[in-house]
Amino acid sequence: MKRLKNLSIYHKVLTVTVSTVLLLGGFLGYITLEALNEMNDRQIEKRGVEMAGHVASLVAGPILVNDIYSLGEFIHEFRSDTEDLRYLLVFDHTGRLLAHTFPVSLPKGLRNVNPIPLRTESRIIALDSDEGAIRDILVPIENGAIGYVRAGITEEPSKTLIGKTTKSLLAITVAFCSLAALLGVLLARFITAPVGHLVTAAQAIAAGNLDARAEVRTGDEIGRLAASFNEMAQELKEKDQLRATLLNKVISAQEEERKRISRELHDETGQALTSLIVSMRVLANKAADEKQRELLLSAREVAAGILLDIRNMAVELRPTALDDLGLAAAVRKYVANFQERFGIMIGFQVDSGINELAADLSVTLYRIVQESLANAARHSGATAIEISLEMQPGQVLLRIADNGQGMPDGELERAARANRLGIYGMRERVELCGGEFLLESKVGAGTIILVTIPLKNKGDSHGS
Ligand SMILES: Nc1ncnc2c1ncn2[C@@H]1O[C@H](COP(=O)(O)OP(=O)(O)O)[C@@H](O)[C@H]1O
Ligand SMILES: [Mg+2]
Repeated sequence: MKRLKNLSIYHKVLTVTVSTVLLLGGFLGYITLEALNEMNDRQIEKRGVEMAGHVASLVAGPILVNDIYSLGEFIHEFRSDTEDLRYLLVFDHTGRLLAHTFPVSLPKGLRNVNPIPLRTESRIIALDSDEGAIRDILVPIENGAIGYVRAGITEEPSKTLIGKTTKSLLAITVAFCSLAALLGVLLARFITAPVGHLVTAAQAIAAGNLDARAEVRTGDEIGRLAASFNEMAQELKEKDQLRATLLNKVISAQEEERKRISRELHDETGQALTSLIVSMRVLANKAADEKQRELLLSAREVAAGILLDIRNMAVELRPTALDDLGLAAAVRKYVANFQERFGIMIGFQVDSGINELAADLSVTLYRIVQESLANAARHSGATAIEISLEMQPGQVLLRIADNGQGMPDGELERAARANRLGIYGMRERVELCGGEFLLESKVGAGTIILVTIPLKNKGDSHGS
């Protein structure tokens, strides 16, 4: 049963159809043969009794006149004229054997097989002989008053016929089995082909192609299954689109907010601090004594430190350069600052034309550079990083490679489980732009991040 369970549907259908036909064929064949045999037995006995009766009526005359010669002649002739008649024996009323059809004498034991009774009914005895099964039929002549006839009838001719019938039955069974197997194969194909399509579609969806659909070819259970599968896939796709839209909204809201805060820090807070610093310098110059002057100057130093922190914070949040000078300049500034802060050598190559990118695409690329540099500084121990931003036909390519320690297999999954989602975030942003995000990393061989994003016509919105 367990083995049947694990068979493919194809083989299940095949097994069931062929074994059903085999069973049916065997059963029907058995019943037919039994019936044939029984009918045959009855037929033989009926015919035997009739034949013996006929002989009995014909030999009564010669017995009465004691013409043994004619009697012998007659039974020999009758026997050779009757195909399935093996022998005839004629007795007088006392049971004395008057004549028989054997060439010399009776075979041993035949005489007493069907003894002359003290009764007047006929009697049939089944014998086995060298020539096969024989019915020995005893029939009284005139109720035994004149004598008795015994006729031996062979079953062979009808047995041969039944044998032939059996062979035909077998041949028919085999033919039907083959036909059933063929139909089984067709049925199995019919069932398994759409299931196969369904499996393919499910695998495609699992691999991320949410447009994959199963073919609905029939109205049966499998067709309905395919239809519900497609509905499910459609729902999944809509959910995914909704998720992307929401994510987009969240990202652009976040960018907008960062931009606003950054501007405010830079323009308002920065300006206010700058004028405070200037005023303190003026005040220091007009100080009453040296002690007051030093106090004012050191307060001015503190304010200048705060201004620097606020500028850095503003740049980290959203560099004004990105909006004012374009991606190349913004990245260059960021890289220079980063190099200084972490002491890592950074090479930056950029194609002219990169500044033509749509604003949101520029922001996405800038954020990827930011996150990748932060990761390299925090996790890799790298001493050098190479960044290139390349315009290619129809797409832009960003490559960031560090010479750090790389990461072991499964590191990203572990990080994601710990809610550290920097790399997943990058991937999401890239995929929202219809691009591709690749991360190659091997322990001891550094990490490379490769991002390609297709270009849309300018003015098209990337990511909203
Ligand atoms: N450049 C890198 N070199 C080595 N390991 C890295 C690098 N970038 C990321 N990783 C590993 O991948 C993990 C996931 O990174 P990320 O998704 O950015 O999350 P987080 O930076 O918050 O840890 C990091 O915790 C770190 O173990
Ligand atoms: Mg990170």
